[in-house]
Amino acid sequence: MSLSDDELFVLSYYRSSEINGSLFFGRLARALRPGPVQHDLTRHFADEAQHAWYWTRCIDALGARPLKLAEAYQDRYLEAAGLPLNLMEVLAITLVFERRVINQYAKHLALRGLHPQIGATIGRIMEDERWHVQWVREALADLEQRFGKDHVEATLRRYREADREVYAETLAEYEERLGFLSGPAQEAAP
Ligand SMILES: [Fe+2]
Ligand SMILES: [Fe+2]
Repeated sequence: MSLSDDELFVLSYYRSSEINGSLFFGRLARALRPGPVQHDLTRHFADEAQHAWYWTRCIDALGARPLKLAEAYQDRYLEAAGLPLNLMEVLAITLVFERRVINQYAKHLALRGLHPQIGATIGRIMEDERWHVQWVREALADLEQRFGKDHVEATLRRYREADREVYAETLAEYEERLGFLSGPAQEAAP
């Protein structure tokens, strides 16, 4: 069984987004002062780089080559949400984004007839993504004293709204490509 065009597109899109994530967090990790956030963010960016490699390897094993895509999910994200201005905002947007990633991978994992290679790749990546959500949530809670709980919550709300907007937009734009992700029921349709 080999990849359909739509699957190849989606897996390539995941790969590009993982690369973007790695570059974004890598730049931040380079700029941060010594401390726990510097420590965890360094592991985080290394994970995202690995994820891009897992997708590259998975696509290769399924007999294809990743597509070169002009944009990744994060490009729209920063446009809709605005550039984060401080560490708290960076962590808030990251938390919202990582939740979206887990959600998307879980949705994909639940597809009926999923190729085992793709399932194994998502399963392996999800282990790391769960840790990403966990450390960022904890780091953000630590910042509540400095920034105020209300302010942190309002920031999260703002990013969640932007996230919903971007996700809906992306789904609409790539409707045909992503149609197979709408769920197992889709496969039964004529
Ligand atoms: Fe990732
Ligand atoms: Fe992640």
